[in-house]
Amino acid sequence: MNILSPEWTAVLYLIAAVCFILALKGLSSPKGARRGNLIGAAGALIAVATVFLSTRFENVPLILAAIAIGSAVAVPIARRVQMTQMPQLVAGFNGVGGGAAALVAVLELAHAEDPWIRLAIVFTMVIGAVSFAGSTVTVGKLQEVISTRPLIFPGMRWVMSIVVIATLVTSGFVIATGAWEWAIAVLLIGLVAGLLLVLPVGGADVPIVISLLNAFTGLAVAASGVVLGNILLVVAGTLVGASGTILTKAMASAMGRSVAGIIFGAFRGGSTAGSTEQSDRPVKSATTADVAVQLGYAQNVIIVPGYGLAVAQGQHTIAELATSLEARGVTVSFGIHPVAGRMPGHMNVLLAEANVPYESLKELEEINAEFKNADVVLVVGANDVVNPAAKTSPGSPIYGMPILEVGQAQQVVFLKRSMRPGFAGIENELLFDPKTTLLFGDAKDSLTQVLGAVKAL
Ligand code: TAP
Repeated sequence: MNILSPEWTAVLYLIAAVCFILALKGLSSPKGARRGNLIGAAGALIAVATVFLSTRFENVPLILAAIAIGSAVAVPIARRVQMTQMPQLVAGFNGVGGGAAALVAVLELAHAEDPWIRLAIVFTMVIGAVSFAGSTVTVGKLQEVISTRPLIFPGMRWVMSIVVIATLVTSGFVIATGAWEWAIAVLLIGLVAGLLLVLPVGGADVPIVISLLNAFTGLAVAASGVVLGNILLVVAGTLVGASGTILTKAMASAMGRSVAGIIFGAFRGGSTAGSTEQSDRPVKSATTADVAVQLGYAQNVIIVPGYGLAVAQGQHTIAELATSLEARGVTVSFGIHPVAGRMPGHMNVLLAEANVPYESLKELEEINAEFKNADVVLVVGANDVVNPAAKTSPGSPIYGMPILEVGQAQQVVFLKRSMRPGFAGIENELLFDPKTTLLFGDAKDSLTQVLGAVKAL
C-alpha cells in the first residue's frame, strides 16, 4: 500500500527540486556555500523519503540493508578524508552514482517494450559505465596508485575508435532485441571506454576530467529518470549535468585550455606530464628574520596561496600573519587564482575556514592590476599559478593559462619545501629571478616562525 497519494508525491518532488536549485544558488558564493549544502542535503532526504512512501512496500529489508551498507562505507570515509583529498572523494562518489544508474537501467530492461525507453536505458548504461570506470581511474591517479603521467599505448586511437563502433553496434542490438546478454556487452564496452578516456589524461588535467565525468553522471541519472518515469531524477540529473558542464568549461578556460583539447590532446600525448624532478640551479634563499623584515616594513603586501598551503594546513597561521601585518599598518590582500589548489574554490574554502574576510580575497583580474603597487608578494605553496612560462613558453603544458603576475611586484618571496616543480611538472623561472627569495620549509612551520619574528619587530 502507498502511504503518499500521487498528488502529494508530486508536491514533495517539487519541494525537493526547489531545494536542489536553491542549493546550487547557495553554492555559487563562499558565503552561501554551507547553507546551500544543507539545503541540498535536505532536498535529497525529502526525495528519498518520498520515493519510499509513494511506492509499494516491497523488498524493504533489502533496501534498508543496502542503505545501511552504503552509509557504513561512505560516512567514515567522508568524515576522515583530508581537505586535500576532497577531489578523490567527489570523484569516487560520482563514479558509484554513475555505476548505480547503469545497473538500475540494466534491471529495467526486462520491463521495457518501447524502443525509446530502451534507447534511454542504453544511454544510461553507456554513460554510467564510462563515468564509473573513468572516475575510478581519476581516484587512482589522484591517490597516486596509478601514475599521474598520461598512459598511452601505440594504436590507442584505433582501439578507441573500435570501442566507439562496438558501443554503437551493441547498443543497436539492445534497442532492437532487449536481450540482457547484449546489455552486459554494452556495460563492459562502456567500462573499457571509460578507462581509455581517462588513462591518457595527465596529472594537472585530472580535476577537469572529474568535473566532466560528474556532468556525465548527471546525464545518466536524468536518462534513468526517463526510464523509471521519475521526474525528480530527470530534474536532479539535468541540474548536475548542466552545472558539471559549466564548471568543466570554467575550469578549462581558467587553465587556458579547451575541454576537447584536454581529452583528445591526451591521445596525442599533449597532456601535462607531472614531472617531480628537482632543479639544481642556484637560488637566493632567505631566513625567517629576512622575510619578517621584508613584510613588517612593507606598505603593501599581497599573499598568493596555493596547493602547498592546503597540504601544510597553514591557513590559520597565514590569517594570523595577515592580521599582525595589518596591525602594523601594512595593507594585506590575497590573490586567488581560480585553479590554485586541486579543486574549484579550494583557496576560498581554505581561507574561509580561517575566517579571512571575503573582502581581502581578490580574483585574478582584480589582483593582477595591483601587483605593480605591491612591495612584497608572499607566495605560499603556489607554483604553476604564478609561473611565467604560461605566457612565455609556447611548448609548455601550461602555456595560455592566465596567471597571477607576481613578477610585477618589487620583491617576491616563495615559501616551499624544495626545488620540486608544481603539479604541471615544469620549472618556474621566477624562482631564479633576482627579485625573488626563497624560504625553504613546510609552509605552516615557516609561517609560524615568520609570524613570531614579525611580532618581535
Ligand atoms: P602547484 O603548482 O601544484 O604547486 C604547489 C607548490 O606547493 C609546490 O611548489 C610545492 O613545492 C609546494 N608545497 C607542497 N607542499 C608544501 C608544504 N607542505 N609546505 C610548503 N610548500 C609546499 O600548486 P598551485 O600553484 O596551487 O597550482 C595548482 C595546479 O593544479 C595547477 O597546475 C593547476 O592547473 C592544477 N589544477 C588545479 C585545478 C583546480 S580546480 N584547482 C584543476 C585542474 C588542475 P615543494 O614540493 O618544493 O614544497
